[in-house]
Amino acid sequence: MKHEDVKHEDNVARISSLHVSCFMFHVFTSSRYDPPMEDDIDRILVTRAQIATRIEELARQITVDHTTAEGETEITLVPILTGAIVLAADLMRHMPVRMKIGLMTVSSYPGKSLRTQGSSVLGSQLGDIHGRHILLLDDILDSGGTLRMVVPMLKEMGPASVKVCVLLRKDRPAAMETPVDYVGFEIPDEFVVGYGLDFGDYYRNLPDIVTLKKAIYAPERS
Ligand code: IMP
Ligand code: MG
Repeated sequence: MKHEDVKHEDNVARISSLHVSCFMFHVFTSSRYDPPMEDDIDRILVTRAQIATRIEELARQITVDHTTAEGETEITLVPILTGAIVLAADLMRHMPVRMKIGLMTVSSYPGKSLRTQGSSVLGSQLGDIHGRHILLLDDILDSGGTLRMVVPMLKEMGPASVKVCVLLRKDRPAAMETPVDYVGFEIPDEFVVGYGLDFGDYYRNLPDIVTLKKAIYAPERS
């Protein structure tokens, strides 16, 4: 090995150990000064274990309902983004049926809203759904505005059927009056996050469904 090569390798080693040190410094200092996300939780409404059990039950029921005497029917699973991505990922892995995935992005709680600001479709990537069985997935049924807008839009595209599955349904008349085919859990009329649901686009990665401390969503009132 030439002298210059040794010098070059030395420099590379020195730079990478500097990177590692900077990264470790960042990890230690940021975890010391940024409170962990769990500190923002008020209480757990639905645990990850309860969700896992219910998802399996729902998947079994949906699979049976989409199986005819002639055999299975094909499904296009349409999770409403962004909130339904976690539900979709878990549910589909318990559904041994031939399926395609379509995507639809709907905004109803922009930024740090706690009540719907009216739903609007930001984009979709559905493929050809004409003649196909659609299973629309949403994380939560609240005012029903999202489903009242999306279901007729899908039906206009000529699918064989449209069924709706929501993981959570809030205990309020508007939600109860909105027709859906599958409900994971009935919950009180409270703002929740976790398992795909967000506040200001955070907390989607929490594995349980939780409420947040008042200081997080209404700092001026706590
Ligand atoms: P709806 O259109 O009012 O029924 O609300 C449906 C959408 O609003 C859901 O897909 C969620 O994205 C959002 N949403 C409703 N309630 C909550 C909540 O408690 N936490 C977080 N997002 C919510
Ligand atoms: Mg949503």
